[in-house]
Amino acid sequence: MPSPDGSRLEGLEARKAALRILDSVLRRGQTMDNAAQAARGLPHADAALASAIAGETLRRIPDLDSLIDGATRQQLPDDSKARMVLRMALAQKLGLGTPDHALVATALPLVDGGPRRLVHGVLGALLRKGMPSIAAPRLPDAVEHRWRAAWGDDVVAAGRRAISQRPPLDLSFASGDLCDSFGQGASIAPLHRRIEHAGVVTGLPGFGEGGWWVQDLAASLPARLIPHDARNVLDACAAPGGKTMQLVAAGHDVTALDRSESRLARLSDNLRRTGLKAKTVVADVLDWSPETTFDAVLLDAPCSATGTFRRHPEVLYRARPEIIEQSAGLQAKLLERAADWVRPGGSLVYAVCSLEPQEGEARIDDFLSARSDYRLQAAPDLVSGIAQHPRGWVRVLPGMLEEQGGLDGFFTAHLVRDDS
Ligand SMILES: C[S@@+](CC[C@H](N)C(=O)[O-])C[C@H]1O[C@@H](n2cnc3c(N)ncnc32)[C@H](O)[C@@H]1O
Repeated sequence: MPSPDGSRLEGLEARKAALRILDSVLRRGQTMDNAAQAARGLPHADAALASAIAGETLRRIPDLDSLIDGATRQQLPDDSKARMVLRMALAQKLGLGTPDHALVATALPLVDGGPRRLVHGVLGALLRKGMPSIAAPRLPDAVEHRWRAAWGDDVVAAGRRAISQRPPLDLSFASGDLCDSFGQGASIAPLHRRIEHAGVVTGLPGFGEGGWWVQDLAASLPARLIPHDARNVLDACAAPGGKTMQLVAAGHDVTALDRSESRLARLSDNLRRTGLKAKTVVADVLDWSPETTFDAVLLDAPCSATGTFRRHPEVLYRARPEIIEQSAGLQAKLLERAADWVRPGGSLVYAVCSLEPQEGEARIDDFLSARSDYRLQAAPDLVSGIAQHPRGWVRVLPGMLEEQGGLDGFFTAHLVRDDS
């Protein structure tokens, strides 16, 4: 779009791409990573800006909608372009500090030939009035309702505070020596460092040498439950390999299995970079059979991923009840198969990065009622501030370790098979 002097309007292509990304996420249920393909071909800075605008919008849609609805009598449909353009402009103001003139100049061309006057009027009115700062943005109603019923008001309030903040970067280390000598960040758990403002990951010390990898502290908990003396361990849904690397670094003999060839290729790249070795298998848990049983199986099952909402706010819109139900059905089948691959007396560790009890607690309850040969093993206190649940599993919720930067939502349980 040329500006009045004939040059291209700076940043307009990024806003168009952001609009396409939001459309793919909200209307077609895509992940941000897939939706970001909409910015393919743009210069790097524009593509990054498009993703940032889409992300900032997804973090605060309910509050942005209240502002928009308070500034017009017109009922804008939820998926109308006018509403989306207004959401994007307000999100840039609140989340990126974009100057007002740039907001208006890049918003209006997006609705050319459409509700331009309406968008101009609403945006102008809101900007003139002065925007409130929204420190703890509301989560989508359906999510708040679900989480309130499952975890209570305090967790919903903590989730609101968490979604507006940039999470710190957690690193997992291959050895205690490497962790001790890293020289940056605080260590909240063994083999862990937390960095507040990391910048580019590849620029951190030792990236090339591969002594560490990026892994949310919550995601590092399941591998910490695998008994030290387990010799051969199957990582049954392994890619891209965060937990495989922990297991190999801990000295286990690891088979890393995943049904996705491309994700397993990323796992192999990660192993190469870190100099760690594991056997890799491209296969589907639902139709693969091992030649022998394992001392331990880690099943980090595919899930709604709602626990990762701080970095991936789109999960809150993708995880509709029917998706959660489908996921729970698949998890039950995966658990059932993986359970047969554990030797008598061995361990099965189940994990999901989900805040939905249907994918965590309910899966274990159903599993234990169907499999009398398994019992829950109480998890030790892995990280101070993450209390073990009285039932023995570990449930990580928004609000935990909040002062230190919080964690992803997570569930993990250690099941042990009878010895006979
Ligand atoms: C939550 S991710 C695993 C993350 C990984 N454990 C880590 O720490 O980096 C779930 C993985 O399960 C894989 N997966 C999903 N269904 C599967 C199946 N039926 N058989 C094997 N792998 C499956 C997906 O390809 C995905 O890589």
